[in-house]
Amino acid sequence: MENSILQQLREDYESDPLSKDFVFKNPIEQFEKWFAEAVLANLNEPNAMTLATSNIDYKPSARMVLLKGIDKGSFIFFSNYNSRKGRELLWNPYAALLFFWNQLHRQVRIEGRVTKISAEESDKYFHSRPVGSKLSAFISPQSEVIESRELLEKKLSETEKIFAGKEIPRPDNWGGYKVIPHSIEFWQGRTNRLHDRILFTLINQGEWKLERLAP
Ligand SMILES: Cc1cc2nc3c(=O)[nH]c(=O)nc-3n(C[C@H](O)[C@H](O)[C@H](O)COP(=O)(O)O)c2cc1C
Repeated sequence: MENSILQQLREDYESDPLSKDFVFKNPIEQFEKWFAEAVLANLNEPNAMTLATSNIDYKPSARMVLLKGIDKGSFIFFSNYNSRKGRELLWNPYAALLFFWNQLHRQVRIEGRVTKISAEESDKYFHSRPVGSKLSAFISPQSEVIESRELLEKKLSETEKIFAGKEIPRPDNWGGYKVIPHSIEFWQGRTNRLHDRILFTLINQGEWKLERLAP
């Protein structure tokens, strides 16, 4: 593709201002407000977020995951604990989350420490999932090289038969993580690239500092 095409793509963001005086003093409340607005705006999968981790050599990697809850100020997602992200989080439990709500010209950056949620909480969510999703979690060695899709499908139908009419147990290597944030930045696109950025940094338990950053 011609670079000139990419360089001509330009969108001007006309949005209401975001200022220190008009945000909640707690970033979780602010996030919940923006999230509710993203839902009201009928955005497709507003809970889709990029999760960035890094490996033992400090090399970063990123992928999408779905936010499945906010609990006591932590952001919850579910995955395979043996996956690449799972292994990276063992080495370095610090991660970043990123939401981009394009139609609202909004971005939220969250950084924090990641821990697993309790087995009971993971069980609760696992058992609320459709059967197909439970079976996939059960049979898929996420992030591993596999020989073919056919083998995966074979494993799926065999496992389906084994569990026909029975409860599918949550695999030990599948469950939830929570990101306990220490910084959250809200970005609102404005005209002429003079965007608004408000950064919340945790200074004490439950106490956040608010600053405006240059766009
Ligand atoms: C919109 C979207 C949502 C996704 N949600 C999840 C999720 O909640 N959990 C998950 O493990 N993978 C999810 N995935 C797949 C991941 O992006 C990724 O392929 C997978 O987790 C393996 O990543 P890893 O090899 O870095 O561990 C999602 C992908 C997309 C595109």
